[in-house]
Amino acid sequence: MHPKRAAITGVGGFVPDYILTNKELETMVDTTDEWIFTRTGIRERRILKDPGKGASDMVVPAVLELLEKTSHTPADIDLLICATVTADRVFPDTANTVCDKIGAENAFGYDINAACSGFLFALYTGAQFVANGTYRKVVVAGVDKMSSILDYTDRATCVIFGDGAGAVLLEAADDDTGIRDAVLKGDGNGRHFLHMKAGGSVKPPTLDTVLAREHFVYQEGKTVFKYAVKGMVDTVTEVLSRNGLPPADVSWIVPHQANMRIITSVAEMLDFPMEKVMTNIERYGNTTAGTLPLCMWDYEKRLRKGDWIVLTAFGGGFTWGSLLLKWAYDG
Ligand code: COA
Repeated sequence: MHPKRAAITGVGGFVPDYILTNKELETMVDTTDEWIFTRTGIRERRILKDPGKGASDMVVPAVLELLEKTSHTPADIDLLICATVTADRVFPDTANTVCDKIGAENAFGYDINAACSGFLFALYTGAQFVANGTYRKVVVAGVDKMSSILDYTDRATCVIFGDGAGAVLLEAADDDTGIRDAVLKGDGNGRHFLHMKAGGSVKPPTLDTVLAREHFVYQEGKTVFKYAVKGMVDTVTEVLSRNGLPPADVSWIVPHQANMRIITSVAEMLDFPMEKVMTNIERYGNTTAGTLPLCMWDYEKRLRKGDWIVLTAFGGGFTWGSLLLKWAYDG
């Protein structure tokens, strides 16, 4: 008898309608479509333009689609975990706002902030509640409205990111599918290379912080790039080897969509074919906590029950890790 495991039993997603192309960015900052595409693999990204709308407004349609696809109602949800660095507000959390907006009257929720690794960390957290029998139906969402924290005069950061949300349902598996293991890592010293300078308790917002443009993403791209490749390669290798799974048996790697060159470097170092690596960075850019569920949303139809899948991510913190699962249904 295998131990009880949490399995992903459905995926929902949402991206805003507005498409910000590299061509349009050429009119905003000193850049070119050619530079952006060759250095990052991104051609366009989605932007949530509607005034007064935030992260929860992208999670709501993603979760509603998820519930419809899996024949559930909002009242079926026990717990909703939302991974994000661009919550609707500093407080309260976004998860409970989503529960209120969709009428998930039996659910409680909370947010997890682990930047681009947020969905991975939230997924493994949610899986524990299902595996130990505490809750039966757990929704894990990853969302970011990166356009709300980007400086559209800084060409080094504004071309990379986009907005979007994805969500999965976790339920107990009654077979050998589900989430098997995860290697999750953190190194707080990485905070120096990727952060927002003001707006938190260390440096609350003032007129000066706004004028100094300190409420935007600050990134030392080259350093992040280097650590991202190493972090993802090391943890994919560790999670596979400690589960005795040869890379050739893995059907899909789902990497965080930070930069196409990071993704191809990871695949090359793992000697893993790119045909089995999920990518959608060309259309969405880096949606931070949204990338992993949005990849599964895009590729769902191609997934088969029993497929071995490795999710891997790297992000601000630094945070990083890899999670191994056996897919639970035919997409
Ligand atoms: N358009 C044109 N030129 C640009 C540019 C843009 N959008 N952004 C930077 N440049 C310029 C730089 O000014 C620099 O010019 P210089 O040589 O005259 O000084 C040159 O391009 C190279 O800049 P550099 O920062 O060294 O480029 P890079 O190859 O490292 O690519 C990133 C920059 C940000 C795309 C890359 O470092 C990266 O993707 N890092 C990881 C980012 C990430 O994944 N973050 C999310 C968290 S996981």
